[in-house]
Order: sequence, then structure tokens, then C-alpha cells
Amino acid sequence: MARKPFIAGNWKMNMTAESGKELIAQLKPLVKDTRYNVALCVPAILIPAMVKAAKGSKIKIGAQNVHWAEKGAYTGEISCEQLKEYGVKYAIIGHSERRQYFGETDEGVNKRTLAAIANGITPIVCVGETLEERENGQTEKVLDKQLKDGLNGIEDITKVVIAYEPVWAIGTGKTATPEQAQETIAYIRKKIGKLFDKRSANKVIIQYGGSMNAKNCFDLMEQPDIDGGLIGGASLTTEFAKVVNYLQD
Ligand code: PGA
Repeated sequence: MARKPFIAGNWKMNMTAESGKELIAQLKPLVKDTRYNVALCVPAILIPAMVKAAKGSKIKIGAQNVHWAEKGAYTGEISCEQLKEYGVKYAIIGHSERRQYFGETDEGVNKRTLAAIANGITPIVCVGETLEERENGQTEKVLDKQLKDGLNGIEDITKVVIAYEPVWAIGTGKTATPEQAQETIAYIRKKIGKLFDKRSANKVIIQYGGSMNAKNCFDLMEQPDIDGGLIGGASLTTEFAKVVNYLQD
């Protein structure tokens, strides 16, 4: 069955209200004919302004994280309710930068993911191995753990988007080859089939992320198991529209 491609940008800690509004205004006409799902995951402080800027367009605004608790003493965190108030539809969860620099664990990823689903926010759960892990032949083992622990207890796995982002490809300009990305994403789909069921696994949207840009996106997204991309650097300019329009252009 056909899965609808989903292209999401990850602005990380970039852009301001001013530059963000300008970029969205430029992107809107460029992506107006897309048949795909499109989102920009923006810094939390920019969410209200970017939701306003993207109104009436194909671009949905997402967050870069979300906390599991309803409310309370969690300084610096943001709840599902707070995101929902602005109509946020997506939240990246477990990005490798969160895991690497802020100590996020698979258990935390799991709690955040369950909370997002319960609140009608689609989690974009990031998984991926480091260069060392790949070179030591541990890619599958690392993914197995991230998927098993991160997705534990989810009732309907089709409500989750997975982003496979090999850590060595993020922001480095070193993209995984289309074959490498396809092979690993096919493995992830197979594993999800084992953890849940095959039918659902075939419906799950799995993105590739890591130095994806207007030049390499076609070959990546042509792969049978790759359903879109999580785009960092190339989402900070109108290059993002070229990625969104990769098939239509
Ligand atoms: P990149 O980032 O496209 O700049 O490599 C991707 C990501 O980290 O989501």
C-alpha cells in the first residue's frame, strides 16, 4: 500500500521570528501544489509566530521536543497541551543531538512518544547509529534497542513517524548512500514488523535524515522503503521547497 511521503524540516537552534516569517512567506507559494505532508519543526519560542506565518498553506508547524508530563516542575520543558494550544501537529523526539548533548535516553523517548500520541501529536522518533557503531558492525543492535525501548507499549504504531538518521551523516555533508539508507530503513521496517505486526509496519512512515538536500533527495526518496526526509541544514533556505517538490519538478 502506498505511503504518503512526509518531508519535515528541522530548524534546530536557528532562525528568528523575523527570518522565519520571511522564509515561510517565500516557501508558501513554492510548496502550494505538493501532494505530500510537509512540516517545519521550529524552536519552541518561534512556534506561535510560525504557526501564524504558515496559516492557510501546506506547511504544518512542529516542535523539536515535547515532555511527557501534563504539567509541573520541569524547568525548560514544554507540554503537549502547550503545543496543542497553537495547533502543533508534530514533535521530533529523541533526536541524536538531544541524546548526545542532553542525555536523553530510550526510556525518556518512550515516555515522550506515548504522551504525544495520547495528545494527538504525531511523534517523529529519531533513531540511528554513530560512525563507531557502524564500523564495529553494531548498527542493527543499536537500532534494535532504540526501537524496542523507544516504542515500548505503543498501541498503534502507524501513529508514529520514524526518522532514521545515522549520526555520522548529520550536519557533516556525508550522506548515507541511497543503498545504505534503503538497507537500514528496510531493516527498521522489518524490526517494527516483529515488534508490532507486519501489516502495520508496512504503513509506518520512515524518513531518512542526515545531510539530505536538493541534490541527493531524489535518489534517496526513490528507494522503496524511504518515505521522506528529516531535513536540517537544507530547511533553512528555499532549498527546502526543492526537496519537497523532488518528484514534481
Ligand atoms: P542535516 O540535519 O540535514 O543538517 O544533516 C538533519 C537532522 O539532524 O535532522
